[in-house]
Order: sequence, then structure tokens, then C-alpha cells
Amino acid sequence: MNDNLIEQGKKNAALKAVDENIKKDLIIGIGSGSTIVYAVNRIGEINQENDLNLICIPSSFQARQLILENNLKIASLDEYPEIDIDLDGADEIDQNLNLIKGGGGCLVQEKILASNSKKLIIIVDYRKNSKKLGQQWKKGVPIEVIPMSYVPLLRKFSKMGGKPTLRMAQAKAGPLVSDNNNFIIDVDFGIIKNPQELNIKLLSLPGVVDTGLFLDMTNKAYIGQQNGQVLVLNKK
Ligand code: A5P
Repeated sequence: MNDNLIEQGKKNAALKAVDENIKKDLIIGIGSGSTIVYAVNRIGEINQENDLNLICIPSSFQARQLILENNLKIASLDEYPEIDIDLDGADEIDQNLNLIKGGGGCLVQEKILASNSKKLIIIVDYRKNSKKLGQQWKKGVPIEVIPMSYVPLLRKFSKMGGKPTLRMAQAKAGPLVSDNNNFIIDVDFGIIKNPQELNIKLLSLPGVVDTGLFLDMTNKAYIGQQNGQVLVLNKK
């Protein structure tokens, strides 16, 4: 994989998504990850040029920092319970615009924002585009769990045919702790034939807070290609 092409793909997709969708007086949800950085930097630029009176709601600690660094107005769902446009990245997107998210550990708040938005716009590069979930993203479905439930849940995920791994922190001994003080278990289910059915089963397990399966939520996707173009897909 060529890192420059990947970064260029993310950037091209982010700029196009922002330029085509961000207008005056919008309440915007801000997702997390490395791709969203390009989008928020661009929002900061156009807001400075034109004072667009934008209000940004963060999905994570990282998103909060990004909004503040770009001198954008920050608010919460308490103040603005309905978002106009939610912008976010994804780890994988299938042909029905279903997603796997949470590779960066921020899925729960991301899903809350997405589910309270009139429009979810996803920005990705060509590596993430799949026919079926589980084809490109091989690290498994991120699942946020209440810490006391992690051992029984590891067993239950295995019984369901998954290969679960408790996600470990990078610069600390022990598990990664999410923004909500929970653990994340990545469960490899191979290629997922029926994501809806799988999601319902996972959500029925006590201790599961939410899954990284974002189904029937995306309205539009901007996919940065290797040749510099951006593929735009709309919800059917
Ligand atoms: C954060 O937990 C994720 O849902 C991200 O949106 C997703 O992992 C995409 O991240 P990148 O833009 O860094 O690939």
C-alpha cells in the first residue's frame, strides 16, 4: 500500500465532502479517526473565510480537540439534540453503505451522533470499499463492553463463531479504556453475510454497550480513489 496515495485519497474525499455539504448555520456532528482531521481542518478554513455560524458536536475526546484547534464553536447534544449533518470516517463500507466503525475506539458516541442526525456522510479512502463487511477490514467488529462482563462475553462471542480479542492499550499495560471507561473487544466473524442479524444478536447480550456495525445509517459516502478522483455513493 502506498501511504501517500492513501493520505491523498482521504484528503480528496474529505475536501469534496465538506465543500459540497457544509453551508451556513448548520449543526454538524464530528466523527473520529485520521480521515476526519482533513474534513475539520477544511471546515475551520471555510468558516474563517466566511463566518458560517457552524456548531460542532464532538463524538470523542479527539474530535473535541480538533474542533477547538480549528476555532469552531463546540456544543453538546444536550443543547442541540438534532444534528443537521454528521461527518465521519469508517473502517469499512459495503455496497449498501453499511459500515464497520470503531477501529479508533470511539464507536458508541459516534453511533449516538449518527443516529441523531438528519444526514450521515462518510469519508473514506479506496482501501475501505467492500462488497460485504469483513472483506477488507480484517481486525474484526469492534464491540464496546462493560468491563465486568468481558470474560463471559469473550466466551459468548466465540460460541457465536467469532474470534474475539480484547483490545490492549498501546502505551500502557492492560486493556484499552474507551472514552466511556469501557473495554473494546474486536471480534472477527469473517465475511459477514447478514450484518443485521449479527448486530441484533450482539446487542441482546448483557454487557454489550454497542457494536461498530452502523447499519442503514449512511446517506452518502465519499470514497477517495487511487487516481485522485472521488467516488460518491448515495443511499439507494
Ligand atoms: C473511530 O473509532 C472509528 O470509527 C473511525 O471513524 C474509523 O476507525 C476511521 O478511522 P480512520 O479515518 O483513521 O481510518
